[in-house]
Amino acid sequence: MTNDKRDITMEFSSRTAAADAVKTDCVAVGVFAEGELSAQARAIDAASKGALRAAVKSGEVTGKRGATVTLRALPGVAAGRVLLVGLGNRKEFADKAFIEAVRTAVKAAGPAVKELAVAAADWLPAGRDSRWQARQLVLAAREAVFRLDELKSRKDDGNSGPERVVLLLGGRDAAAEHGLAEGAAIAGGVELAKRLGNLPGNICTPGFLADEAKKLARSHRLGVEILERKRLEALKMGSFLSVAKGSSEPPRLIVMKYEGAGAKGKVAAPVVLVGKGITFDSGGISIKPANAMDEMKFDMCGAAAVFGALRAAAELKLKLNVIGVVPACENLPSGTANKPGDIVTSMSGQTIEVLNTDAEGRLILCDALTYAERFKPAVVVDVATLTGACVVALGDVNSGLFSADDALADELLAAAKAAVDPAWRLPVQDDYQESLKSNFADVANIGAPGKAGAVTAACFLARFASAYPWAHLDIAGTAWKSGPAKSATGRPVPLLAEFLMQRAG
Ligand code: BES
Ligand code: MN
Ligand code: ZN
Repeated sequence: MTNDKRDITMEFSSRTAAADAVKTDCVAVGVFAEGELSAQARAIDAASKGALRAAVKSGEVTGKRGATVTLRALPGVAAGRVLLVGLGNRKEFADKAFIEAVRTAVKAAGPAVKELAVAAADWLPAGRDSRWQARQLVLAAREAVFRLDELKSRKDDGNSGPERVVLLLGGRDAAAEHGLAEGAAIAGGVELAKRLGNLPGNICTPGFLADEAKKLARSHRLGVEILERKRLEALKMGSFLSVAKGSSEPPRLIVMKYEGAGAKGKVAAPVVLVGKGITFDSGGISIKPANAMDEMKFDMCGAAAVFGALRAAAELKLKLNVIGVVPACENLPSGTANKPGDIVTSMSGQTIEVLNTDAEGRLILCDALTYAERFKPAVVVDVATLTGACVVALGDVNSGLFSADDALADELLAAAKAAVDPAWRLPVQDDYQESLKSNFADVANIGAPGKAGAVTAACFLARFASAYPWAHLDIAGTAWKSGPAKSATGRPVPLLAEFLMQRAG
């Protein structure tokens, strides 16, 4: 039923040519606010004896952000069409404006243009280089044509954009060429995460995710191991299993390994990425309200991001070992489900009072975090759509970042900035542990209602992550968009990929 052979085929390359001389179907050049021509636009204006200035003078070309005008068959210009892309105020031209300009250009060109050359040398946000620009070009262009019609019987005849996108360079630029390849690897990871995130709970089950892991392992030469219920019982993952037992869909613990550090001497300590893989979260016996409950199919977006990051690491051939650990199950109400007040024993031996069955993410993650100890990790980062409270705190702009380790937190924040996949640090502090006290077990699975819910969730996890440097990303607000544009976003794959790239050196 599902068909994953739909990787976007848009091709990217670079070429050294002047905007007026490049032989292509369409060349995109920028115009800043009030009709201020970019350097490349000036080249075309000169070659065409003032065609662009005339268009500005007529009022047709304004340079307003997001506006486009196409001019055809300009004399003295090699490209068949010139696409003028409004970039807005030059002083305000930053990351977002660049990314939007690329999306706008790709959409405005459309499928009628086979090859689009983007003359973007002059549209470089302050503090960014050509490598960053090339990466973001690929990410933004592929984002612009991403489709959601995998399960539609009539495919959207929406805008699939040009077949080829060429980044025009002033001279040879190896960094830009690297950037294009890196962008393609990251975009592949983002698209995998989006696809898995968007698939519904009846298709994207724990078993389906396990099969996807096997496919990814085959296509990208990863090691893979799938642990089924029996093995999870033998490992004494009583917390994870307690969530799974409410559903007839059997759980899986998915372990994927990318070994890029080489086998010379002793194996380098891996980065372990742990992803929450609740394929549907009804809340269980502490059931959620019906409104927008469908969006709880996205509760495996942490898992999807781990898949995406591993895929990107493999394509980038990073000199680094990365292990993905994904606990996957459903959270449903039934006669065998967790009940409020139940006490379960985690793999770590800590007993947990399940005061709310809807705080299930932490119950599956805690056992995965304990399991991660066996890899003697250099660092563990878990990624989870963990709390509604994080959405209240940070909305859909920043992912919540939690770590007691300042150096690790700074590393992840820097990666978030570089990747334009923002995160904001929130505390994990012992003072909050107080609210997780239980009269009957070692710890309760929720803190005081209405108080710092994202923080207490992180503090719960911290109790199981004391054996290694650890960080937690709460992506409840950033992993998907609601409303008419409802879709998984693929975040935080760009952040994770950047983090891994930085670590690999
Ligand atoms: N998957 C949800 C978190 C969530 C809610 C993400 C809404 C995005 C939007 C998680 O399992 C959950 O239900 N958390 C509870 C915890 C509470 C019971 C302490 C929450 O946030 O309400
Ligand atoms: Mn829940
Ligand atoms: Zn959940």
